[in-house]
Amino acid sequence: MTVSPATTPATASFTSMDVSTAEQWAVVGAETAKHQGRVADRVLLLLGSLADVVDGFAVDQLTHCLQTATRAERAGADEQVVVASLCHDIGKAISVPNHPRIAAEILRPYVRDEVTQAILYHQEFQGRHYFHHFDMDPNLRDGHRNEPWYPLAEQFADEWDQTSFDPDYPTEPLAHFEPAVRSVFATPHSF
Ligand SMILES: [Fe+2]
Repeated sequence: MTVSPATTPATASFTSMDVSTAEQWAVVGAETAKHQGRVADRVLLLLGSLADVVDGFAVDQLTHCLQTATRAERAGADEQVVVASLCHDIGKAISVPNHPRIAAEILRPYVRDEVTQAILYHQEFQGRHYFHHFDMDPNLRDGHRNEPWYPLAEQFADEWDQTSFDPDYPTEPLAHFEPAVRSVFATPHSF
């Protein structure tokens, strides 16, 4: 069987990095950019996998994320904020204890810093609504009072996230958000 050159992926031929060339790295860079759409594909897959993460809540984590994003969108939030709201608990697909940091790192190259910080610290802001059940300080958010992203983190936690465990709320499906996910993850702005 012959393989058309047009469909053969370009590959750099180095077998260890210390013998690589700039030209080979240009191939890797071009191939990586060509496959950027894979990022949105993987984000959507991870979000979908949250459907089987329930852990005792009234709704599964996919529904919770969709409902949080639905509330953000209906409040007039911009595209980055809506997608960040959708992805804020995506880390729970892998590990609950460090889930805010996983989500923030997935988002960081694609959204403005204010949005990354609101997701990174969202649990400290959520704490106002439930940390007293764990003998934890419900006012951890106060340590961020002077940060420029404080108002967004506060609105996210108080109005959209902590309210989104309602099985009866009219929540948009994942397909509704797919264009926004593809738009936000189309271009990395930083490393
Ligand atoms: Fe959440």
